[in-house]
Amino acid sequence: MSRKRFLLCSDTHLCHVDWYGVPTEERMERLIKHIKDEYEKDPFEALLFLGDYSLDFWKWDIGGCYVANGRSETKEFMEGYVSRLFDLGIPMGFIAGNHEQYGYKKWNEITGYDRKDFIICDDILFILLDAFGADLDPTEHSDGTFTPADTEYISMLMENYPDKKVVLCSHHFDPEKESDTFKQIVSEKRVLCLFGGHVHLSSIVELSEDFGGKALLYTGNYSYSGVKNAPPTASMWGFRDLIIEDDKLISRYITPENEIILDGEKIVHPYGYQDIYETNI
Ligand SMILES: [Fe+2]
Repeated sequence: MSRKRFLLCSDTHLCHVDWYGVPTEERMERLIKHIKDEYEKDPFEALLFLGDYSLDFWKWDIGGCYVANGRSETKEFMEGYVSRLFDLGIPMGFIAGNHEQYGYKKWNEITGYDRKDFIICDDILFILLDAFGADLDPTEHSDGTFTPADTEYISMLMENYPDKKVVLCSHHFDPEKESDTFKQIVSEKRVLCLFGGHVHLSSIVELSEDFGGKALLYTGNYSYSGVKNAPPTASMWGFRDLIIEDDKLISRYITPENEIILDGEKIVHPYGYQDIYETNI
């Protein structure tokens, strides 16, 4: 049996907010430890970050620290935390979210990565898109401008690697705003599934038949839950894996064990899996 595993993570938000009674720096330390623990437990072949590492250009309250005083928490996240994952020795992707509107040059200077990217692992082509690639380098506080999936970029890669199966990743897909060309591409048999962040949920959306009924798998958060009218533990800090076992695809949202404070009470959220997706490919 052949088996390959990958890990995807988003919405880590190193910033001024200490969610669930845990100081931001400690939360970041836990994130890095938990990714490393997960690798020890069951190694993965690539690690993909899907955006929102900061609130550098934030529109609300105190505003974004990069716009206000030139401090880049994305840079701090990369240098202080993500760089410690390089010794895993696996390919990594690091695309921008809606809170990192750095232009292409600045993004590369800060992170060492490109705003859009691709990674090939055996017979799988991961295409990493730039969902907020408009109005870059803003001088005013903003929360980003959504741009539909870049079908020219996707088609070019799919033509260059005709034998690869395809996994589409982005900080955000908006099925209402995506183009007909994108829907046709997603419907192709060799496109296995989509991964998106942004909504801070661990759930799975089965897209309409226009998209070939493919699944959009959300990569959760390591900051705050996007689940409305439910405790944060409904979508607790975590990341999502992708396992390809022969002709079977499995994806699980993984929550590492975390001690947090909710309503003044200390609770331990246990290690576990939720929102598991399984399909034949
Ligand atoms: Fe986010």
